[in-house]
Amino acid sequence: MTQTPVDLLTELEAAAELAALAKTMAESDRAYYQDDAPVMTDAEYDALKRRNEAIEKRFPHLIRPDSPSQRVGAKASDDFEKVVHGVPMLSLANIFSDEEIYEFIDRIRRFLGLSETERLDFMAEPKLDGLSFSALYVNGVFVRGATRGDGAIGEDITENLKAIKDLPLKLQGRDLSGSDIPERLEIRGEVFMNKADFFTLNEQQQQSGKKVFANPRNAAAGSLRQLDPAITEKRRLSLFGYTFGEVSEEKWTTHAEFLNRIREWGFPVNPENRLCSSAEEIVAYFKDLGERRSGLAYDIDGAVYKVNRRDYQERLGFVARSPRWATAHKFPAEQAQTVLKNIRVQVGRTGVLTPVADLEPVNVGGVMVSHATLHNEDEIKRKDIRINDHVIVQRAGDVIPQIVRVVLEKRPVDSEPFVFPDKCPVCGSHVVRDEDQAAQRCSGGLVCPAQAVEKLKHFVSRDALNIEGFGAKNTQFFFERGWIKTAGDIFELEKNHGSEIRKLEGWGDKSADNLFASIRKVRNGADLDKFLFALGIPQIGQATARLLAAHYLNMTDLLSQIDQAQDPSSEAYQELIAIESIGTVVAQELLDFFEEEHNRVEVARLRTLMTIRDFEPLSQSDHPLAGKTVVFTGTLPTLTRSEAKAKALAIGAKVAGSVSKKTDFVILGADAGSKAKKAQELGVSVLSEEDFIALCNNQKQ
Ligand code: IVH
Repeated sequence: MTQTPVDLLTELEAAAELAALAKTMAESDRAYYQDDAPVMTDAEYDALKRRNEAIEKRFPHLIRPDSPSQRVGAKASDDFEKVVHGVPMLSLANIFSDEEIYEFIDRIRRFLGLSETERLDFMAEPKLDGLSFSALYVNGVFVRGATRGDGAIGEDITENLKAIKDLPLKLQGRDLSGSDIPERLEIRGEVFMNKADFFTLNEQQQQSGKKVFANPRNAAAGSLRQLDPAITEKRRLSLFGYTFGEVSEEKWTTHAEFLNRIREWGFPVNPENRLCSSAEEIVAYFKDLGERRSGLAYDIDGAVYKVNRRDYQERLGFVARSPRWATAHKFPAEQAQTVLKNIRVQVGRTGVLTPVADLEPVNVGGVMVSHATLHNEDEIKRKDIRINDHVIVQRAGDVIPQIVRVVLEKRPVDSEPFVFPDKCPVCGSHVVRDEDQAAQRCSGGLVCPAQAVEKLKHFVSRDALNIEGFGAKNTQFFFERGWIKTAGDIFELEKNHGSEIRKLEGWGDKSADNLFASIRKVRNGADLDKFLFALGIPQIGQATARLLAAHYLNMTDLLSQIDQAQDPSSEAYQELIAIESIGTVVAQELLDFFEEEHNRVEVARLRTLMTIRDFEPLSQSDHPLAGKTVVFTGTLPTLTRSEAKAKALAIGAKVAGSVSKKTDFVILGADAGSKAKKAQELGVSVLSEEDFIALCNNQKQ
């Protein structure tokens, strides 16, 4: 294709080309990052990017908010030092309705065993739409700032935080010695840019021909992560503190008290925070906040509710990566109207066909949207979605945009219902519908290239075996060349195709060496749970894979037990379905997978090519209860059942529902029935709640 040189473009042509470039690159990003199905090579992408930059340089006033040049890199920059968070920086679970406020509170009351009348206060706070930070103070002096990063490791932004005027470099204690301030205190909160500062910044950027930012959040991110802190200083950023990480001595017993303290010491705290003592007060807070949202100086995307008492917070603890004692309540999703241009059917790793809508790009609450998921055939039928319909698209948080409904008044007269394919769009195999499930699947199995390549992408992905540098793009590339067909081929890639890879354009020895080193690293030792997850067995997600690994402990036992469990009357089968969260459906998927000859062959081959490490029960493996199986029975005097269970799981014990030979301890409450008797019969050790708590608190023996 011949291109008009940038110097010769008219303004009109430039505007049209920038619009087209924004669209093409957004589609490519989407295909690459979200659908794992690249539509162009790196070189093609880079060429488009350079062309876009050149046109924007000549016509800075034509820069579009959705231009690829406006993106803030999400990838951690290598240019900042890394900071390991002593206490992980976690995220919050989300709720979306008033009913869920009641459920959230009920759940907490139940967990703590509080009656209706017992007092339970919450701090309600605006959910700031910025970037979380950590600021460490030693003897009241600011010594280190960090970003959240992946929660475990962030980036050192000490100098950048110092450049923010709101951040006190020294906390002001009550007396000169600051004796009321903990020796070490890590205050955490959010950095953001006020809307007014955002508009001023964008005006300045535009006037000087620099990039404008799409929203205050991107502007804050771009300004904070500047290697030159002088730039951070020029751009006005603000911050509020809302929680703490590391602390040498906690000098407060409630969250409200913590906020008051840091405010007294000079740390900014949001004046919109309110202490609420009932669900009704929280509901009213959320409503009021929503009404005042547009009038606030900064962007917020909802509210956050936190249990006020610190001792309750401690008891509630965490589930996965979020505290049980707090939740985010998001404002309703943003919507917009656009035209649905096409429906494409994609094939995933397990063969499930997912219809995707291609949309006329539309701005939904500040983000350009050009695709939406349609879930499955039933969803299309239920909403009667057709090609060329005008549709309402909705975006909420980070979730994939969805079609809410069709604007029937605008439906073209010649419109026809969408016919879901009965053949796989990739391999042409028959499409089958799982019984009792809405999903349609391609019956091609490994014959279907789409399934095969998606399985491989899953195998190397971060949550699975995490072969660094392999990625979806390389997987696709090697697959298309026929260099990898199944997972085992990955471990023989260097041997079989190493020299070809080194000669590939844009590769060279260094990148090839890096890739082979990461493959070797995984080959030399992969965790059992990651390996099981990586196999991509339908229904076996990360959590289930971990439960299986924790139960069977090593691959040899797992395989022999699964073999025995193929007989549904066997003890092994009973044992399998007794594992928490594994019901008959999940068990069947697992059994089916290991019964398939080609899966058995592949797993056997993988076992010869790589080392699968035995499962290590949690980090506190030296804890007396770690790896032990406990059973609770009867009413415990102080702990609720969920609390007791959470305590046990937290130190690496397994909690079972019934007493058997495998039970190590039975924790006996009041009115215990048959389980107590069974424990006695089998000679299992019996503990009181008091013994159990004492054991839990005993870190090492
Ligand atoms: S508390 C243990 N309070 O929301 C959780 N977070 O989805 C500590 N956020 O990463 C977070 N406003 O960046 C908390 N008032 C607020 C917040 C807030 C915004 C962000 C924060 C966090 C994310 C969680």
